[in-house]
Amino acid sequence: MPDRQDVHSLRKLLTEHRQEHLLAFWPQLNPDQRADLLAQIQELDLAAANEWIATLVKGQPEAPLQHDFEPAKSYSPLPVNDDLRRKYREAINLGESLISQGKVAALTVAGGQGTRLGFDGPKGNFPVSPIKNKTLFRIFAETIAAVSERYRAVCPWYIMTSPLNHQQTVDIFKTDNYCGLNPRNVFIFQQGTLPNFGFDGRILLADKDQIARSPDGHGGCIRALARSGALADMKKHGVEYLSYWQVDNPLVRLFDPLFVGLHVLDGAQVSSKAVIKNGPKEKVGNFCLVDGKVTVIEYSDLSDELAEKRQPDGSLAFQLGSIAIHIINTGFVERLNTKGHSLPLHRAVKKIPHIDSEGNRVEPKQPNGVKLESFIFDAIPLADRSIILDIDRSEQFAPVKNAMGEDSAEVTRRMMIERAATWLESAGVKVPRKADGSPDCVLEIAPSFALDRADVAAKKDKVPPIKPGDTVYLA
Ligand code: UTP
Repeated sequence: MPDRQDVHSLRKLLTEHRQEHLLAFWPQLNPDQRADLLAQIQELDLAAANEWIATLVKGQPEAPLQHDFEPAKSYSPLPVNDDLRRKYREAINLGESLISQGKVAALTVAGGQGTRLGFDGPKGNFPVSPIKNKTLFRIFAETIAAVSERYRAVCPWYIMTSPLNHQQTVDIFKTDNYCGLNPRNVFIFQQGTLPNFGFDGRILLADKDQIARSPDGHGGCIRALARSGALADMKKHGVEYLSYWQVDNPLVRLFDPLFVGLHVLDGAQVSSKAVIKNGPKEKVGNFCLVDGKVTVIEYSDLSDELAEKRQPDGSLAFQLGSIAIHIINTGFVERLNTKGHSLPLHRAVKKIPHIDSEGNRVEPKQPNGVKLESFIFDAIPLADRSIILDIDRSEQFAPVKNAMGEDSAEVTRRMMIERAATWLESAGVKVPRKADGSPDCVLEIAPSFALDRADVAAKKDKVPPIKPGDTVYLA
């Protein structure tokens, strides 16, 4: 039970920071609610909040880029000369060896709110596969199990949640028996949150005893890995590299030996996969070199002139789009934490439900405030070295972001079927196609059947003949 003195000094402090309204409903709260609210207020970094209010909430949107920059360079999906052929072979061998030794772990960021998809519950529980309706979590779990079997290695999986979905995520894994994985190798940890602000700089109240807060962005994983004990767990198990991806991409190639190997051969600390952008204004970050460092510049920050700029062969000058697939060294995460580095915060103007000064609930129809978050790609320029591997989008990137249209589940399912069709065709299997070229059948390849084209080729004899209109599940 907070004593009078505590409350008095806190009220004074809040008044100095123009946040005294956080105690407006104090007389109406019961002792438990008071203790809870007090703990939330004590956790606030009010000095930092003042800075955020000045620069991000009330301040002008982030300043335009001051530095000179140029397009970043990447490794191509396939080697283009003998030197690279040798290097790719060496990288694959090295990557396979590191995975076999258990030095590589999976890291999924799954703490987001998934507002655009509008799905009830953690996004990882969204059913997405074309025939079996497997959830994103299940697809990843089956992939990890298949990788683990292929390399006869423990492949630990670290999953970042947020207070919004942590318990639900844990419950899903328990109910689904960890999708067949050993629970000891699945580490679910929570990211931090940051307070939400009204445009006037006041911290919003979600309820009379609750400060409105939201997850601190996927960049929050750097700090959360250390704070949650995940990093210590990795160290204990000898994990040196993290295969990082976002929960919404079921096509992702986890534990990619080529990617891991190139990253390690080149002595990088954070590396990235990229796609060739499908147009000058595609809404993905752009890989650039700023002062010699690989840096992601958001699409909204790239001028039209640079976005449209072409190379002599007609391709875009800034053509490498960021898809949030990385290899990150655990030593680098540790270094960022010991240096007390936190990644820069960005503002997102949002509709934030809250209570007003009378205690009435407000569900805003228009954006009414600012949420703050950090982005994982801001860690890239902090690395001494970073490489980029450009990959074929249709093979590895189909995020489920929206309920309809672009990046919707329907598009993702179509891409999953198309990828299965091309894997089968490259193994010599006849896949019926419609006049428009799309597969005239529904296909789903379980990770236990194949992790890549080569696996399909090796199991070609197990594939039944496929007729128009068939539904074929390979497991
Ligand atoms: P998105 O930027 O797509 O955000 O996150 P979101 O919250 O999932 O969806 P919207 O924008 O509300 O519709 C990309 C990835 O980063 C994770 C998400 O779970 C997703 O895997 N993420 C995002 C976090 O883990 N924490 C966050 O605070 C934000």
